[in-house]
Amino acid sequence: MVRLRALAAVAAPTAIALGALCWFADLAVDAAVLAVGLVTLAHAALLWRYERSLARTLDHALTVSGDVTMSRPAVGGLSGAYAAACARLEGRWKADLASAAAAAGTGLERVLDGVPEPLVVIDRRRRVLRANRAAERLLGGDLVGRDIAGSLRHPAVLDALDRILGGVQHQEVEFSWPGAVERSFAGHVAGLGGAPAETAPAAVIALYDLTAVKRLERLRADFVANASHELRTPLATLLGFIETLQGPAREDREAAERFLPVMRQQAERMARLVSDLLSLSRIELDEHTLPSGRADLRQIIQTVLDALERQAKENDMTFAVELDPGVTMLAGDPDQLLQVLQNLIDNALKYGRRGTTVRIRGRQAAAPGAGQPIIEIAVSDEGGGIAPEHIPRLTERFYRVDTARSRALGGTGLGLAIVKHIVNRHRGTLSISSELGRGSTFTVALPVPGPMENG
Ligand SMILES: Nc1ncnc2c1ncn2[C@@H]1O[C@H](COP(=O)(O)OP(=O)(O)OP(=O)(O)O)[C@@H](O)[C@H]1O
Ligand SMILES: [Mg+2]
Repeated sequence: MVRLRALAAVAAPTAIALGALCWFADLAVDAAVLAVGLVTLAHAALLWRYERSLARTLDHALTVSGDVTMSRPAVGGLSGAYAAACARLEGRWKADLASAAAAAGTGLERVLDGVPEPLVVIDRRRRVLRANRAAERLLGGDLVGRDIAGSLRHPAVLDALDRILGGVQHQEVEFSWPGAVERSFAGHVAGLGGAPAETAPAAVIALYDLTAVKRLERLRADFVANASHELRTPLATLLGFIETLQGPAREDREAAERFLPVMRQQAERMARLVSDLLSLSRIELDEHTLPSGRADLRQIIQTVLDALERQAKENDMTFAVELDPGVTMLAGDPDQLLQVLQNLIDNALKYGRRGTTVRIRGRQAAAPGAGQPIIEIAVSDEGGGIAPEHIPRLTERFYRVDTARSRALGGTGLGLAIVKHIVNRHRGTLSISSELGRGSTFTVALPVPGPMENG
């Protein structure tokens, strides 16, 4: 019906023109009818092709716009349907674009938050556009929209930022950040170029925490300085004696007799130091591999007591050993566990009072929390004790409460550092309790050996 109306509308002008010709110009009516028929037929063919191509395009538009509810209208309604489909398409594209932008935005946000280093993006006015979680943890929340100078108030960083905003591409600065514990940071500031608008992203600031690296650097420098210092003293003494014996006391047999024992003592001290340093570096090297062996605690204690018996007698000291019946085997490297007890009992003898007793206790205990049970081995002395401020530092290399006394007793200051590393390797803990004037207790806690280790 609609098609017929369209055809009539297209053929009407021809029919009117030919009708007028018949009326005024004597055109034969049958010729005019034939002409109208032919023109209408030609129009019908054209209209049919045109409608088919329009309908196919509309079908496609409806499919793309996702409108399954709308059916294709007939020829007369095509233009309206086109307009509706185009409006729907436009709406859908806009919605798709908005959700893609939102997804990209939240994705980027998540990526930035996943970066463990603090990252801040600022605009040309130095205002924060984005800050990841690490940055908020370091600089405080609520950064976005504020001037970065309010939270990252460090002259070096702000100077670097000014240079970047002035057109420089990249700046690196190192600075320390005050707090409960002062931290060191490297700041990388990079210009983003692009739009000159004041609110466009202009620079990104990335901060790297260098505290641990700086601490290691300092420790290494201190360690080299300490080791050299410890070796320099006996070496200087030895050289002094050698020069004397080669020079003024060349023929003095009596002087040689006096000097030689001291020279030997100094040489032994150097040898002990080198051997302790080597031992420490070996233990550190395999600290991450859990020892697979097992060790008989009673046997270890007996070996140490035999070796230190003479020293105990010289100090008029005695040993008291108390081992719970269940505590026999330890999981670990027997040589290293022997080294632990040797160091702790040697300290108890060196720093305990004359005429007192050194107690060695072994017992099984419940681990703190709901962990595996542990074996505790405690070495207690009745010495002068250690002031609380020294306790956390005792396991540092070369740390001594009274350096002169330790040296006089032949100590290198490495014993407890070695103990700590061995205990770490065995996944155990070392705890120290002490009371000034009463004595100290050093307790090593090790995991109870499993059935395999006990086998
Ligand atoms: N039982 C203890 N009582 C009091 N002070 C102690 C005791 N054990 C260790 N210390 C203090 O801790 C310091 C470090 O001990 P550590 O065993 O590491 O070194 P050292 O005994 O001086 O030398 P080394 O053990 O290398 O021969 C000692 O110099 C001493 O000041
Ligand atoms: Mg010691």
